[in-house]
Amino acid sequence: MSTLVIVGSQWGDEGKGKFIDYFASKADIVVRAQGGNNAGHTVVVGDEKYALHLVPSGILYQNTVNVIANGVVVDIKSLIDEIDVLKSKGVDLSQLKISKRAHVVMPYHAVIDALSEESKGAQKIGTTKKGIGPCYMDKVERTGIRVADLLNPEIFKQKLALQVEAKNRMIKSINGTEPFDYEQILQEYLAYAEIIRPMVIDSIAYLNAELEVDKKILLEGAQGTMLDVDLGTYPYVTSSHPTTGGFTVGAGIAPNKIEAVVGIMKAYSTRVGEGPFVTEEKGEIGDLIREKGHEFGVTTGRPRRCGWLDLVALKHAVNVNGLTMIAISLLDVLSGFDEIKACIGYEINGELVKNFPAELWLLDDAKPVYQTFTGWQEDITAVDKFDNLPQAAKDYIAYIEEYLKLPISYVSVGPDRKQTIIREEAF
Ligand code: GDP
Ligand code: IMO
Ligand code: MG
Repeated sequence: MSTLVIVGSQWGDEGKGKFIDYFASKADIVVRAQGGNNAGHTVVVGDEKYALHLVPSGILYQNTVNVIANGVVVDIKSLIDEIDVLKSKGVDLSQLKISKRAHVVMPYHAVIDALSEESKGAQKIGTTKKGIGPCYMDKVERTGIRVADLLNPEIFKQKLALQVEAKNRMIKSINGTEPFDYEQILQEYLAYAEIIRPMVIDSIAYLNAELEVDKKILLEGAQGTMLDVDLGTYPYVTSSHPTTGGFTVGAGIAPNKIEAVVGIMKAYSTRVGEGPFVTEEKGEIGDLIREKGHEFGVTTGRPRRCGWLDLVALKHAVNVNGLTMIAISLLDVLSGFDEIKACIGYEINGELVKNFPAELWLLDDAKPVYQTFTGWQEDITAVDKFDNLPQAAKDYIAYIEEYLKLPISYVSVGPDRKQTIIREEAF
């Protein structure tokens, strides 16, 4: 029994890719369990930078098996493109496996995602327009197409015919929208089916058999806790459960097989897309963080909204995920600020609120209550021991640990694999 969970503790883009790559060196199997190619995970090794969307971030280790599990929604076309890019960089993909139970993101899902965003106007979510929401809608409606269906031409034909008909009915009244072409999609996807067929497995049977022989499994979270459809800032969320409970369902691994849950947090906050963000800095400070942290989306290229750390949201993440330790990333980005802030409560209608509220509209006028810290000026990107960090950085970390009642066991001071300070190993 040795399963490690890596979960995003904020709004995604916490630096999960970097840490998954680190932990993958010690794991036998890395598993993506939810979300789809809305994710963008960056792994930097020396001069080479890898942007991973569907392929798990353990792929750079030759002996690690990488599984796209049942809870993921798979855009097969985009997966094939990603595989080709990785192969051109010399990455070995022979150890990539795809669950028969994963749902397939079809071309109509992305179109519906974009149309739905357009129709919402100012209320739009700011999705990645990858069709993730519409694919999960079909899954929950029980009309979705799974990888197993795609691999069986007769079943696929039947299911696709029903879906194309239903989706064409849905978009019929929208001006300028071409109907979906059943025959064209059918032929295209039957060809994709043959490309992925050798990778497809029953991942639930496989993973549980491997657990029985004491293999080490790493569950790779995509997105982040505040984007969870139940636990996040609904409706400004993604359509999956990017939290510990979601990974156990999405991989078919029982909760009692989990040994440790590492929450990845960046040293400040960012968010892409719409939705409340109490500690957002819309002026100079936000711009400076964006510039120093290169805060632009890996999947969509959108500039990320930036602001100070939000400990209210993080405490929520500690609770709902059962975090056992924390890894902090991008601490180096905070070098050079005279002052650093962390939000320890929201002032709403004159009251101090310390639990993340369900009523999002209350957050429109919420004022962050800050704890202010003295900054540090030193470049810390070459620091390899915790003791060698500036005292002000150590004080900032100590405060977060005290607030969250959890150890910060890993400190990342740069994007490269090597720029990681390890205080206590999780796995
Ligand atoms: P993910 O979605 O959680 O995997 O994170 P992203 O890859 O979308 O965004 C994190 C960004 O920060 C990437 O560009 C990483 O290369 C970069 N990064 C990760 N850790 C650090 C760090 O400690 N310092 C700096 N400067 N960049 C980092
Ligand atoms: P990684 O794994 C940051 C956001 C989108 C949007 C909302 C819904 O790289 O951390 P969707 O396309 O999922 O329906 O969009 O969720 N979002 C992410 N934000 N990081 C991600 O992934 C995200 N995946 C989705 O910007 O606000
Ligand atoms: Mg990302």
